[in-house]
Amino acid sequence: MTATNENMPLGVFDSGVGGLTVVRALRKLLPDESIVYLGDTARIPYGSKSPDTIRQFAMEDTQFLLTKGVKAVVVACNTATAHALPLLQETFRVPIIGVLEPGVEAVLKGKNCCRVGIIGTEGTIRSHAYQHMLAMRRPDIRTHAVATPLLVPFVEAGWLNHASLRLALEEYLKPLIKMEIDTLVLGCTHYPLLLPILRKLLGKSVRLVDSATTCASHVGAMLREHGLVSTRRGNASVEIYLTDVSERAEELTKRFLGVETGKILPARVG
Ligand code: DGL
Repeated sequence: MTATNENMPLGVFDSGVGGLTVVRALRKLLPDESIVYLGDTARIPYGSKSPDTIRQFAMEDTQFLLTKGVKAVVVACNTATAHALPLLQETFRVPIIGVLEPGVEAVLKGKNCCRVGIIGTEGTIRSHAYQHMLAMRRPDIRTHAVATPLLVPFVEAGWLNHASLRLALEEYLKPLIKMEIDTLVLGCTHYPLLLPILRKLLGKSVRLVDSATTCASHVGAMLREHGLVSTRRGNASVEIYLTDVSERAEELTKRFLGVETGKILPARVG
């Protein structure tokens, strides 16, 4: 195995293309870091799978990225972070970071944060990972978590302002509005695309915390801590691998990354 050095790329994986919201944030904050991204589009969704299956997939995704010579791994999937992060960190020698802790940190930075709502996939919400992490740090905070499995399909269909999405959101948000949340954690990599509609439905008084942006600054800190900040300036690349390369996945990749992507490469994982 080659020794890790700072000019190797960063590895990022997600169950699909939602994790590209994290790549987008990474590109903005750490423009000199090259990225190898893996989206497990053949096996998405992870959110409805059992914890064992999610852990197995996360292990295989990480192994794939390591074959591409990455210096560190970002688990840009809330479900995989919630169930597999400790296992990945115990198993592999490179630094590995997930999206949950940055999300929790961002929540705690808010002033007047007392009642926190969390939305995410069934897997993320059932893991109680967000609720647990928040309770450990601030036992006085009241949390209420709602599994919102219909939201990923809406985002993937591009129905970001559709009446039926609004109906689903109204239903999902009902208990959170009732408890008068002051903060909402967007606990899924797809949800940053729902920021405008969530803002409309919840008004300005609720703080919306999206883990994609906060994750990027944690990655920066992790690279500094391990002496792995790229010394190259300019020409950083993004290589995108998908386990199923369909026309739809290509379109979604553009939407999530927000730019033309160049070539998408097929990946064999597992
Ligand atoms: N990427 C997943 C997450 O952030 C959402 C999609 C899925 O269910 O796999 O939880």
